[in-house]
Amino acid sequence: MVASNWCPETSIKPDYSTRSFLPQTVARLTICYLLVLIMFQILILLLLALLNFHSTYGQHHASHYYGKYLGSLSPNSVHSVKGKVYAVNETAIFIEDFSYDGAGPDAYFWAGSSPSPDINGFIIPDSLGRYAVLKGYSNQNVLLNLPKGRTLQSIRWISIWCRSFTADFGHIKIPANFDPPKPINLGPIKGLAHGVSASAVIIMDAKTLFIKNLYYDGAAPDAFFLVGTGNKPHPRGQKVPDETNSLEKLHGYSGADIWLRLPRGLTVMDIDWFGLYCITYREDFGNVRVPKNLNVPPDYVFLESKVEPFMSCLTIFPGLMQISWEVRDQEIFFQLEGKVEPNQYLAFGLSGSSERPEMIGADVAVTFYDTLTSSVQVVDYTLKHKSQCAPQSYSGACPDDLTLGGRQDLIMISGNYLNGYLKSIYKRNIITGDPNADQDILPDEYATIVAAIGPVNSRRQAAYHNIKYTRANDLPIRIAFNKIPLNRNCSSLNTDNVISSSIRSPIKSRAWKQEKIRDTNILRAQIGPAGGDRGYTAITGLQSWGIAWWVNGKLIPEIVVQRGKNYTFIVEGGNDPSNQAQYHPLYITDNREGGGGQDPSMLDTPGHRVFAGVSFNRGVPDPNPGAGRYCEWKHRSGIDRANEVDSVEEYKETLRLDCKPGSPAIFTWTPDDKTPDVVYYQCYTHRNLGWKILVSSSFKLTYSLNLIAILISLLLLL
Ligand SMILES: *[C@@H]1O[C@H](CO)[C@@H](O)[C@H](O)[C@H]1NC(C)=O
Ligand SMILES: *[C@@H]1O[C@H](CO)[C@@H](O)[C@H](O)[C@H]1NC(C)=O
Ligand SMILES: *[C@@H]1O[C@H](CO)[C@@H](O)[C@H](O)[C@H]1NC(C)=O
Repeated sequence: MVASNWCPETSIKPDYSTRSFLPQTVARLTICYLLVLIMFQILILLLLALLNFHSTYGQHHASHYYGKYLGSLSPNSVHSVKGKVYAVNETAIFIEDFSYDGAGPDAYFWAGSSPSPDINGFIIPDSLGRYAVLKGYSNQNVLLNLPKGRTLQSIRWISIWCRSFTADFGHIKIPANFDPPKPINLGPIKGLAHGVSASAVIIMDAKTLFIKNLYYDGAAPDAFFLVGTGNKPHPRGQKVPDETNSLEKLHGYSGADIWLRLPRGLTVMDIDWFGLYCITYREDFGNVRVPKNLNVPPDYVFLESKVEPFMSCLTIFPGLMQISWEVRDQEIFFQLEGKVEPNQYLAFGLSGSSERPEMIGADVAVTFYDTLTSSVQVVDYTLKHKSQCAPQSYSGACPDDLTLGGRQDLIMISGNYLNGYLKSIYKRNIITGDPNADQDILPDEYATIVAAIGPVNSRRQAAYHNIKYTRANDLPIRIAFNKIPLNRNCSSLNTDNVISSSIRSPIKSRAWKQEKIRDTNILRAQIGPAGGDRGYTAITGLQSWGIAWWVNGKLIPEIVVQRGKNYTFIVEGGNDPSNQAQYHPLYITDNREGGGGQDPSMLDTPGHRVFAGVSFNRGVPDPNPGAGRYCEWKHRSGIDRANEVDSVEEYKETLRLDCKPGSPAIFTWTPDDKTPDVVYYQCYTHRNLGWKILVSSSFKLTYSLNLIAILISLLLLL
């Protein structure tokens, strides 16, 4: 723009034919072109800076650093060996896209210290730590740990070696004086203000910093762990979450040892300094410099998430969930992975029916990232009924150790959770010897499988799934676990471009309007659906099993009652204890979740007091007063329309009431002065079916209380 004002001539061709070149014209033209040139260069510099910024703060570094590159496996064999080898640290290597046809009779990962591969070596166990003959690999990532006592510095080569034929199928050489990646101590932080100091800042891996013996008085208004580029700290750096993963301003430390992880996308290669910094006052409290050309281990969490130890893999929900497996003798190894939120589970197992996917009777593994313990869990489940686990009657969808005669038979090998991507590796015996809770796996025969994704409840147990295989939508998936040829039909789930859109966290969904009941003393309670993403779970913030109380035709209404008045409950939630999925006696308690029958010894103790619906005979609870015939609000069309409608009223239009013969249970309840202001109507057998009762004092009572208060204040005044 500026240049065009300076160069009017450029748009008008100078008249060369006249040969009367004016010197000014030449000068102006020169200036003009110089200016254009300078502008162009500035533009290029700006572009470069922008690009540089992007590569510094982009994902590229983080998603490709596997350690120090050693080279490609030399493909000198007929067994199609290939792969790129990286040194992870002194004792581990990572092979990207490893392939091997598996045809050698006696082949191992093999390493030694002679000049080139020969019989003087030792076996490196495979990704799962097994010293077994190698099977086939097909473009899989492999992470190998050297046996105890061995280091990369002490070996000269790693080979795919066939012992019986003393044949090298492919190898990589390790240079003499090899310097493997290792943690680097950046030195102490010498504090500049607020009592800040640390005896060492150590880079543990590309994303993890260990701060030793950290002090800070916690008094600054706006201090953070900050990282950035340039030669000294400045407020445009990026905040690093503290050791509790919080990005709030820093609290005080007195001699703490803490681990920090750089925020998403950032590695230590992208930063020039780390420090404690007060943003408002632009004040540096103390920092350390991060050198260039770091030779540090890759982010271990990320690396583990990239490992694919099994050749057989099947996509279950495209972009969301897949299962890999391998049978070795009497054991079967599984890797279950998927895109889920914390506290959301992946479940995979054998169907309850050999013909079709059937949840009832299924034997499944449930895995999830437990935010309470910050760990990945794998739990052996049996789905006896389509209901929440009710261990007192050995019914529902329960962990095997809570079923009659069952036990946990899954052994977890590893698990990790990173950026919404969950992966668990576990194994079991093909025949567990736990016939009450497990099915046998016959590796050469086809078995029908089931799979689901859903939330875990406050007891860390699987609640009702959000998605699963249904007969309507999917053909049954059948797997013969040992079938040859094995095939891999999976693509990496752990990439940022895969977006898990179909699973929403129910808790985050906007709730329907909470319904209320007041001015009536007849309350009729029946069972009905929980209202999908916007019903029970969204309203209460608690995890639903898919069913809930409907009172006077409303989904979990808030019931307003007055002390001293009589209320009659007419309950139609089922009275046949042998059918636990339809046995829902109602009772009133101060416990938010109910399900008191699951742990009768806790009933009527603080935190789970009982106000009505359960009677006690010599301390033994009896839910009969609240157990009547079974009535259920069912979907008219057989399909839950919860996510298509905007209110409970509209939802109810899609339902119809279906009652079994028999008579309802009827009990009366009179809240009194001892009743707390908030109690709950709940189900005796299952947790999280009911909701609040707000207890208020009648006008008279409030009036008299007020009067007393006024009298007391008057007395005090006197
Ligand atoms: C080296 O890397 C392996 C693989 O991630 C890991 O198991 C091991 O703990 C690391 N060693 C050290 C000393 O950190
Ligand atoms: C692989 O999976 C995709 C979708 O999950 C499916 O469409 C395709 O048929 C599968 N291929 C094989 C060879 O099983
Ligand atoms: C409430 O019920 C009790 C017995 O169930 C009865 O004795 C009492 O008179 C009732 N009170 C009112 C106000 O109806």
